[in-house]
Amino acid sequence: MTDFTDDTVAVHDETEKIVAVNINKIYKVRQKDSEKLTEFQALKNINLTVKKEEFLVIVGPSGCGKSTFLDMVAGLAHPTSGEIYMDEKLITGPALDRGIVLQGYALFPWRSIRKNVEFGLEIKKIPRKERTEISQRFIDLVNLHGFEDRYPHELSGGMKQRVAIARALAYDPEVLLMDEPFAAVDAQTRESLQEELLRIWEKTKKTIIFITHSIDEAIFLADRVVVMSADPGEIKETINIELPRPRDGIRASAEFGRLRQKIWQLLQNGHADTEELRQSDNLNDRAV
Ligand SMILES: Nc1ncnc2c1ncn2[C@@H]1O[C@H](COP(=O)(O)OP(=O)(O)OP(=O)(O)O)[C@@H](O)[C@H]1O
Ligand SMILES: [Mg+2]
Repeated sequence: MTDFTDDTVAVHDETEKIVAVNINKIYKVRQKDSEKLTEFQALKNINLTVKKEEFLVIVGPSGCGKSTFLDMVAGLAHPTSGEIYMDEKLITGPALDRGIVLQGYALFPWRSIRKNVEFGLEIKKIPRKERTEISQRFIDLVNLHGFEDRYPHELSGGMKQRVAIARALAYDPEVLLMDEPFAAVDAQTRESLQEELLRIWEKTKKTIIFITHSIDEAIFLADRVVVMSADPGEIKETINIELPRPRDGIRASAEFGRLRQKIWQLLQNGHADTEELRQSDNLNDRAV
C-alpha cells in the first residue's frame, strides 16, 4: 500500500487505483424532541486500497456508511478527516474519470436513450459524428440496439438500468462507482445484468466499486468483498474471492456456498436485526 505516513516521499504502487486513508465521517444530527445537535460517526477509520482493474464489492447492514463512502470516492461528499486518492491525486470533487450508477436510474426523462448515453460526451465536447459512433457502441454493448430513439418511460426497469450503465461507460471513465444498481429489478433480469456487467468489465478493464445487499451478487461479481459493520461504520473483514472466471454456473459450487456462509456469519455478528433477517432468509440469495 502507498505509504502516506512519510510526508517527504510517498512510495506509489503502480497497481493501486484508489487509496482511502483513515477516513472518518461525522454528521451533526438533531436529537429527538431537542434542538441540541449531537455527533454521529457514520464512518470510522476506513483504510482501503482498490487495485487497478479490480472488481471490489462492499456489503454491510443498512446505515453502515456504504453510500457515504462511495459518494466520497465520487467527490460528491467529503470526509470529516482522512483523504481519498485516485492515481495518487487527492479527490476533491466529481470528475469524468469516475462514472456513477445509482439505484434510481437517474436518466433524463426528456432525452432519448441515445441522448442520455451521449450526455457525458457532450460535456466532454466530443464532436457529433464521433458522439453518435460511441453511443451506438455502448447501446449495442448493453443489448439495447433498436431502442435508441425511445424515451426512458418507454423502457422496463432492467432496460433503464442498462441505459444508466451505458451512459456511465460511454465517456470512458477509469472507475465505475455503482450503488445498488440492480436492486430494483426482478431476479432474472438481475442475473443477466450481472453477467452483462462482468462481460463489459472484462472487455473494458475498468476499476469497479459496487455496493449490494445481496451476498450472492457480491460473490458472483467480486475479486474482493469488503464486509462492513455499523455503528460506527467500519470495515470488518475483506475476503478474497478466488473463484475462477468466467463464473457461469458457479453459484452451485461448494466453494460458493462456503463463501456465502462465511459472509453471512460475518454480517450476522454485527447486526441488530439478525433474527428478522434470518427468518426472511432465502438460502439461494441472502440479502443483508
Ligand atoms: N446528511 C446526513 N446527515 C446526517 N446523517 C446522515 C446523512 N447522510 C447519511 N447519514 C447517516 O449516516 C449513516 C450512513 O448512511 P449511508 O447512506 O452511507 O448508509 P448505507 O450503508 O448506504 O445504507 P443503505 O444500505 O441503507 O443504503 C446512516 O446512519 C445515515 O442515517
Ligand atoms: Mg446506501
